[in-house]
Amino acid sequence: MSQTLNDSAPRKFRAPGRVNLIGEHTDYNDGFVMPAAINLSVFVSIWPRDDRKLQIKSESFDDEIEFDLDQQNRPSEHHWSDYAVGVAVMLERAGHRLRGARLELRGEVPLGSGLSSSAAVEVATACALVANSNLTIDRRELALLCQRAENEYVGARVGIMDQFVSLFGKEQSALLLDCRSLDYKLLPLPDTVNLVICNTMVKHALASGAYNERRAQCEAGVKHLAQFLPNVRALRDVMLAQLEQYGRDLPEVVYRRCRHVISENARVLSAGEALAQHDLHRFGELMAASHRSLRDDYEVSSEELDLMVELANKVAGVYGARMTGGGFGGSTVNLVDVEKVEEFKRYIASEYERITKLRPEIYVCEASNGAEEIQ
Ligand code: GLA
Repeated sequence: MSQTLNDSAPRKFRAPGRVNLIGEHTDYNDGFVMPAAINLSVFVSIWPRDDRKLQIKSESFDDEIEFDLDQQNRPSEHHWSDYAVGVAVMLERAGHRLRGARLELRGEVPLGSGLSSSAAVEVATACALVANSNLTIDRRELALLCQRAENEYVGARVGIMDQFVSLFGKEQSALLLDCRSLDYKLLPLPDTVNLVICNTMVKHALASGAYNERRAQCEAGVKHLAQFLPNVRALRDVMLAQLEQYGRDLPEVVYRRCRHVISENARVLSAGEALAQHDLHRFGELMAASHRSLRDDYEVSSEELDLMVELANKVAGVYGARMTGGGFGGSTVNLVDVEKVEEFKRYIASEYERITKLRPEIYVCEASNGAEEIQ
C-alpha cells in the first residue's frame, strides 16, 4: 500500500534567493552584511505521509531520493538532495520530531550563480517540514538550523547571511545584519534604481576547498591577533590600525585576508549610512572599493567577474558594481538608474559576449519578501 497521500492538494512554500549589496565574506567573521532577498525563489510542495520517510524530488534533476528519518546517521551523498536532507537531519537533531512527507522542489534561482539557490532550498524545505509536522519554530532558529545543515551535512562552512535574508527579507528593502547578534535593520531602497544582476555563466562551487580555506585563514589571523588583543574573538573585533600594529608577523596572505574583512565591515556600516541619506554615489563608491578588496586582498574574484564590473563602470547611470556572493564565478550586482537599465543590459550583453564568447544572463531584480506559505 502506498504511504503517500498524493491525491490531496499539497501545501506550498516559497523561499527566495538573495543578492548581497555589500559585506562579502564578513558573515563568518561575526561581521556585517547587507543583502536583499530577490524575486527568484525555490518552491516546495509537500504532502504528508503517515510514516517517517521523506521522499524528495526536484524538477531540475531527474532522480528522486528516499530518506528514513529514523536513520539520521546516513552520510551526505554529494547529491542535490543533501541540502534538503541536511535540514531534516538538523531539525531532528535539535529535537523537532518530523512527520514523513513527499516533497517536490522547483527552483528559479540559477544554480551556481552566487544567488544562494542552496539557502533557498534549505529554507523552503525547512518551512515545509515545520508546517507539515505542526511545529512552530522561531525564524532565527530556523535560519541557524539551515546554516548548520550546510556546515555539518553538506560540508560548506558558510555563514548565516543567505539563510537569514531568505527568511527575513522585505520587499523594496536591503537588510543590514549584524551577524554576531543577529539584530537587523531594513533599509528602504530608492525606487529610482534597479538591482541588476549579471551572471557570468561561470559556475562556482562553494563546497570546494577555497571557501573553507578563506575561513581558516581568517581564524589563523584571529588566533595571532588575540595574543596581543585578548578581547578579540573574531575579525569583527579588530580595527585596521590594530591589524597594522599587531599583524606584522602574520603571513602576508593572511594579513591581506584580514585587511579585507576588517575594511569590508567598515564599508557595510558606511553603506548603511549612505543609503539612509539617499547618497547613492557614496554607496556606489563603497561597492567599487568592496570589489577591489575582494579581488586583490581576498582573491575570490575571477577574470569574468572583473570584466563584468569593468564593463558596468563604463555605462552612464551605474552607481556601483561589484561581485556578489562567495565568488570564484557567479554574478555581479549593479545599482543602476531605472532609466538606464535597458541601455545597460544591451551594452553588457553584447560586450561581455564579444570578449568571452559566453552569453551572460541579466536579471533586473526586485527586493522581495522572505519565505512564506503560498496558495
Ligand atoms: C556564500 C555563503 C555566505 C557568505 C558569502 C560570502 O554566499 O553562503 O555565508 O559567506 O558566500 O559573503
